[in-house]
Order: sequence, then structure tokens, then C-alpha cells
Amino acid sequence: MDIDAIMKELTLAEKASLVSGNSAWTVGPIEDKGVPEIFMCDGPYGLRKQENDSAEIYDSIDAVAFPTSVATAASFDRDLMYDIGVTLGKECQAEDVSVILGPAANIKRSPLCGRNFEYISEDPYVTGEMSAALINGVQSQNVGTSLKHFAVNNQETERMYVSADVDERTLREIYLAGFETAVKKSDPWTLMCSYNRINGTYASENKWLLTDVLRDEWGYDGLVMSDWGAVSDRIRGIAAGLDLEMPGSNGVNDALIVEAVRSGRLAEADLDKAVRNVLKLMEKYHSGKREEVFDRDKDHEKAVHAEEESIVLLKNDEVLPLRSDEKIAIIGGFAANPRFQGGGSSHINAHNIVSAVSVMDSYGSCVYSEGFPYDGDRTTDEKMSAAVEAAKNADKVVVFAGLPDLYESEAYDREHMRLPECQNILIEELLKLSKPVIIVLHNGSPVEMPWAEYVDGIVEAYLGGEGVGEAVMNVLYGKVNPSGKLAESFPKKLEDNPSYLNFPGQNHRCNYAEGIFVGYRYYDTKKTDVLFPFGYGLSYTEFEYSNLKTESFGSADNGPIDINSDKIKVSVDVTNVGKVAGKEVVQLYISDKTKAAIRPVHELKGFEKISLNPGETGTVYFELDKRSFAWFNEAVSDWYVASGEYVIEIGKSSRDIVLCESVELKGDAQVLPVIDMDVQIGDLLKNDVTREVVMKVMKEEIDKFTGSDGMDMESLDPMTYNMLQYLPIRTLRSFTYITNERVESIVAALKEEVEKVK
Ligand code: BGC
Repeated sequence: MDIDAIMKELTLAEKASLVSGNSAWTVGPIEDKGVPEIFMCDGPYGLRKQENDSAEIYDSIDAVAFPTSVATAASFDRDLMYDIGVTLGKECQAEDVSVILGPAANIKRSPLCGRNFEYISEDPYVTGEMSAALINGVQSQNVGTSLKHFAVNNQETERMYVSADVDERTLREIYLAGFETAVKKSDPWTLMCSYNRINGTYASENKWLLTDVLRDEWGYDGLVMSDWGAVSDRIRGIAAGLDLEMPGSNGVNDALIVEAVRSGRLAEADLDKAVRNVLKLMEKYHSGKREEVFDRDKDHEKAVHAEEESIVLLKNDEVLPLRSDEKIAIIGGFAANPRFQGGGSSHINAHNIVSAVSVMDSYGSCVYSEGFPYDGDRTTDEKMSAAVEAAKNADKVVVFAGLPDLYESEAYDREHMRLPECQNILIEELLKLSKPVIIVLHNGSPVEMPWAEYVDGIVEAYLGGEGVGEAVMNVLYGKVNPSGKLAESFPKKLEDNPSYLNFPGQNHRCNYAEGIFVGYRYYDTKKTDVLFPFGYGLSYTEFEYSNLKTESFGSADNGPIDINSDKIKVSVDVTNVGKVAGKEVVQLYISDKTKAAIRPVHELKGFEKISLNPGETGTVYFELDKRSFAWFNEAVSDWYVASGEYVIEIGKSSRDIVLCESVELKGDAQVLPVIDMDVQIGDLLKNDVTREVVMKVMKEEIDKFTGSDGMDMESLDPMTYNMLQYLPIRTLRSFTYITNERVESIVAALKEEVEKVK
């Protein structure tokens, strides 16, 4: 495609028509101008390809449902994400899909968000790394992705209207950081803006977001499309950097665009930019179009494998793995009808749904009794009694519990964090039999577990894709050693969650008052007990960590490590000290000890998954750079590292840190206080430049005031010294009786010093 030539040929009306969908899923073609058509379909973990313009969400092709993102996130396995991406990319090529709409990289702020199953983590580092791996996989097949929903779409309540009110530091550190990593590490062909407003402005019209941050700062040059129906004012949107409106507006906005260009309300150059981005996307896909076969049976096996790598073993009081000679009672409707995906636009018409019941006979001696339904919150006494009877004859009881479809979906949020009460009641009844009880969970987001202390095993299967039944049985029977870890915290109760008092907001605004303290950043800093912490997950083997080493490379000599030029290499040895082969997710957290800013007690800045045979030791490596230590300092509008001590922690979860080492960093220049008559003495003391001036001045004043010679601030008694911290400099007038001229001259001297170093 010769984009320059096409641009010259297109009329204004044709240009306007190219920046919106031609149907629900297509853009273009304009055949006589050499503009092809492109076709998109939902993701993110399977193809929801709708072959006609039907608004019916379930009317899509037969496709393979991979585990949802909440599950694959728990694999903490970038290679697995990449491989899933490659498979999806091939499926798209086979189906002539140019762009698959995913991954969804919004942060799990509240366990109630109806769409948490589609999102990756409460942590932006995991979100960014796993998104980038998936995108790189898909795009390696010359198929585009759409990183969504940009940005701050963390609830479904009023999702198309609510304003997410968030301060800039929180935006940068929590809600944008995952997108930033994905953009920089994988260059998604497209991004999808979210429905909501951010601090009052729709994402689809937000120039700060779509142009200043995304393009000018992060260097993105792909296409930005709207979420389906997210456009309010199309003209403002184009000017802000929104290239493509999906699914279109039946020509209404096309006409407005033409009129706006004619009247001068919209610069034609802005429209041209958007059109070019559409053409570039078309050219990318069509220049790499190739033949592929969508082998559903083969891809089904990949979906099973992906779930095996993602299942998280949360509790095991020596009851798992099950042995084939044990009599097992399998209870719960989810065993026969697993809930393996969430509701809404990511819904797949799954090719081959495998339930535990359909394969149980090949594992051992299992009987099934429904006990409670998979699709509702009520059961009958008969079903309950039958389940208890079945359990009486068994050695162990495995309950397949979970959230019915209606409980969590795109477009609305959950109201509570509980399982249907009938499930909890039956579990309690089964516990009375004094037999080992193991719970397998099918849910897209944390649930309260009133029985957690009393059951013997808990297996978190999440919404594990169409092969979930087989994957779960493989884990239960030890054919697969579980290696997933939670990419989110499980609070004990909803009220413990930091967003609790401000979710989902009121008067169409949601105040993100907890700021950067999302998930474990809050629980760990507050030392709040959780049911299961972030990063937690058990194995059938055990791992020991040793030999933590840190080494800086770059220009550093013996002093503090200059983090603006140097990097730090961290290595740690891990040994499988158990009897079976297994995989461990080694986590690296950083704890800032400088006290320069309010920060979480620690933050995840690295993870690596390692596979080890019994007795084997392997080494994992991490590389840390400035960004690993930085926070977003609004005073300088940039990422900032204070000089001082940081601790590198290596952990099995955010609550199980097993090794740590402290490093001394030389960071960024100290932030200069704003100098005026109101500046506090304490702020002046914190900065080396102003400290010198103020120490000198104070010495003169103290001498004058006390009649001493040689006293300075440091020789003051600690109480007086402390009290001085919070005195604005002007108050010296009142407390040391100096003249206003003298205060003004001190301020002038301070300003002069500050100017010198600016
Ligand atoms: C969802 C998107 C999805 C789009 C197209 C929207 O309602 O928010 O995630 O890609 O529909 O189905």
C-alpha cells in the first residue's frame, strides 16, 4: 500500500469514513482507492469472531477458550503468555482477523469489579510484563492487538459515564504503569481507550492521556480506537488523539467531521493523522497476511496446559495429591459444568468443554453428586442429602465450588464477595463427616471463605478455560505439580479492601482516595491480615532460597550506586528440596528506606519462574534500573529516586520474604523547596543547599536571642529543634523578634542559593 498516494486520492468524506467502523467489526474498504478492509474480534483469551453484524454476544464462531487473564496471570510465566499469544495470532490469521481486542490491562482495584476475571493483577508490574508477553506473541504472527481499556476503567458500575478521580502520582504509578510497560516492551498495534472519564474528561477526548502521555512521552505511534460506543464528542476526540471510532455511528459523526474540517473547528491535519494511523494498521496486517489452519483440537491441548500452569494451590494439609486407590466423592455442580469463562464481550463459543466429571473415571475411583447447582444460588434438601451420603462412602471429598455466571460479568459489579450461601452450607455439612475436604474454586475474583480454616485443601482454578476439568484433575492427582501464585490479594472480608469506602463512588464520580495503596501495597503496609497474600501459592515440593547477590554495573566505583547511570544485577539460588519436580515463582520486592516520600512498605519489581528437579539448584537473575526504585514525584513531574538506602527483598509471596540485602543509591537531585515567606524551617533543613543558609542564619539569630556565642540549631535541645521544624520562616518575626526586613533578606539569600543550583 502506498499510503502517501492514497492520502492524496481520498476525499474529505472518505477520510471521515475511514476513522470509524464500517460495521461492528470492520473498517474500510474503499476499493477504488486501494484501501482494504480489516476485521477485528474480541479477545482477550480466545476468538469471539462474529461473522455478521449481530448484536447477540453469543453469536460467534466455534473457538478455543483459553484460561481467562486472572488465571494465566497466576502462572507468572512470560513464556506461557507469549505462547498463548502465538496460538491466538495463528488462529486470527486462519480466520482473517487483523486485530484481536486484548489484553485488558486495568488494575484490580476492588474485588467487586465485575470484569476482574479479564484483568491481570492488582499490581502494575505483573500487568505490564504479562501483557507485553501476550502482545509480543500475537504480533509475532503479524496480527494486531488492542491493549485496553486505556485507562482507569476499574469498575463496571456507570462505566460509560463515571469519572475516575485520581491524583497524578497514583495514575502514573498504579493505573498507567502497566500500559506504559506494555507499550514500551511490545508496541501494540492498537490501544483501546476506555469508556469512563478521568478527572472529569472522557478517555476518548483526553488529550493529556492519548497524546501528551501516550504518544509524546511513551513514544507510541500506533492506532488508538475507542471502546465500543465510548465516543461522546467525536471532534474533540480526534483533536485529542483518538484515531478510530468503533463501531461507528451510522455516518452521524462522519458528517460532523466533514463539517468541522470545513468550518475550521477541526484541523484537517489532525484528521489526516488519524486516517494515516488507520491506513498504517491496514498495511501492516495485509502485508503479512498468510495461510494458517485453526486446529481447534490442538489448541485445546494448549488451553489445558495453560490452565495447569496457572492453578494455585492455596491450602494442603497433606491431603493432596489424591491417590488413584482412594475413593473420592466429587461434589458440586461445577464438577459437571465448570465455569471456565466470564460473561460479556470476551465470551467464547467454546470448542470442547472438559469437566472433571467427564474425565474422572480415568483418574481413580470417583463418584459424583451435584449437591448444589453451577448456575444458581439455591439447592434442594434432596441434593444436599445425596451429596452427604456420597461423601460418607468416600475417603476424601472434593467440592467444586464457585460463582455462578450471573455473579460476575462485564457491565456490572458484584455486590459482595461471598459464594452462594447454599455452597457454604453444604461445605459445613460435609466437614461434619470428619473426612478430608478439598475445595476447588471457579471464580474470577476473590471470594470470602468462611470454611478456609477447617477444610484440608483449597485449589484455586479461577475461570480456567475450556480444558479446566482436565487440568484440575491433573493437579488433584499429582500428574501436574501446581506452580501458580496469586497475582492479587485475597482479603479476609470485603471491608478490608482499601477501596471499600470509595467503591463504586457517588454522584457519577469515584474518588480513588486510597491513592497508590492498592492491593498488597495497602495490606502489607497496614499489616492487615489477609486470607491469602499476593504472590502466594503452594507446590507438592518445597524450595529453599540462598546466596542472594547484588552487583552493580555501569560507572559505579565503591560509593553509593548511581542509579541514573548504573544497573543492579541480582541473583539468587533456588533449590528443590522436595521429592518431586516443580516450578517456583521467585519474587523481588523493593523497600524504600529513604523516607523521602510516602511509599508502600514494598513493591514488586521482578519475578522469575524456574523449573527444578528434586535436589536440583538453579539461579535466577533480575536486573534493576532506575525505574525499579522510582516513584512519580509531582513536584518535578517525573520519576524520581531519592538518595539513600533501599532493601532488595526476595520472597515466596509478598508476606514471605526469605532473603534481603540493602543497597545505597545515589539518586536524583534533592527537590528544592519553594522559597517564600511561608517556607517552613524543616523543609529548608531537608535540602542540602537551603540547609546551609538556614543553619547560618539560625546560628546568628540564636546567638542574638540567647546572648550566647557558638550555639547553633544542632546544639539546641531536641524538643526545641523539633518544634522549629514547622515554623514558617516569617514567624521568626514573632518568636525571635527580628525585623521584617531581616526575614525578607533571609528569603532573598535563600532564593539566590536556590537559583544557583536550578
Ligand atoms: C468492551 C470491550 C470489547 C468491545 C467489543 C466493549 O463493551 O468493553 O472490551 O472489546 O466491547 O466487543
